[in-house]
Amino acid sequence: MVNEKICIQNLSVRYGDVNILKDISTFFKENSITALIGSSGCGKSTLLRTINRLTDLDGNCAVEGKILLDKKDIFRDIGANELRKRVGMVFQKPNPFDMSIYDNIAFGPRIHGIKSKIDLDEIAENTLRSAALWDEVKDYLKKNALKLSGGQQQRLCIARALAVKPEVLLMDEATSALDPTSAAKIEEVMLELKQRCTIIAVTHSMAQAIRISDKTVFLANGMIIEEADTAKLFTSPQEAKTKQFIKSALG
Ligand SMILES: Nc1ncnc2c1ncn2[C@@H]1O[C@H](COP(=O)(O)OP(=O)(O)OP(=O)(O)O)[C@@H](O)[C@H]1O
Ligand SMILES: [Mg+2]
Repeated sequence: MVNEKICIQNLSVRYGDVNILKDISTFFKENSITALIGSSGCGKSTLLRTINRLTDLDGNCAVEGKILLDKKDIFRDIGANELRKRVGMVFQKPNPFDMSIYDNIAFGPRIHGIKSKIDLDEIAENTLRSAALWDEVKDYLKKNALKLSGGQQQRLCIARALAVKPEVLLMDEATSALDPTSAAKIEEVMLELKQRCTIIAVTHSMAQAIRISDKTVFLANGMIIEEADTAKLFTSPQEAKTKQFIKSALG
């Protein structure tokens, strides 16, 4: 049976009187990678931000419909802090905190009450290994994270997100600002992570969606136009809009 880790039911999101997401329904399967694709402005980031309730912070934003995490309503049954522990997010631009590599990783676990150095050391090593960064930084854990390269900073942000053991990881164009080698490392990390996480990744790279995702959801103008297993969506899209988008995006 398919385990629907996140289920979206008739979700609409409005900023002021502009409808950004329009009656979206879909689900994200546990231990899978879903790619979200679509033109700039179609609402991909808004969808990820809503799943993490970052939209709570936007005064003029109105959300209707339901998002269920393990069948529980994220707006009614789960507090924002618990939600953000269970659902991590990585952004396009790496945003490490202005503190050491170690403290970046320990930040979340400390907030959640983990104080022991032995435990924090273990979390730091495990998450940095999972994010394919350990070998590069293990002798410099006290170094300020802002001194790392862009690709290393992004892997640190992934490690930081992993440090609180999220069940879902939202990645908003997490590799688009990186060189191909760093991007490839992060793709490997994602493939490894899906063993224990449900990943939803926004990407403008069709090649990346094809390489790493199990399912692809195509959005246009705030609506889901088509969704399918990735191989199927790219080889035999059913909707004219999808065909057109894939054709232009593949160049
Ligand atoms: N805080 C906000 N206030 C008002 N409008 C917003 C806000 N955030 C996003 N929007 C609008 O919502 C629409 C969708 O934006 P969103 O960032 O979700 O698009 P996107 O698909 O992620 O695009 P891109 O590929 O360029 O990142 C845009 O028209 C944008 O201007
Ligand atoms: Mg975006």
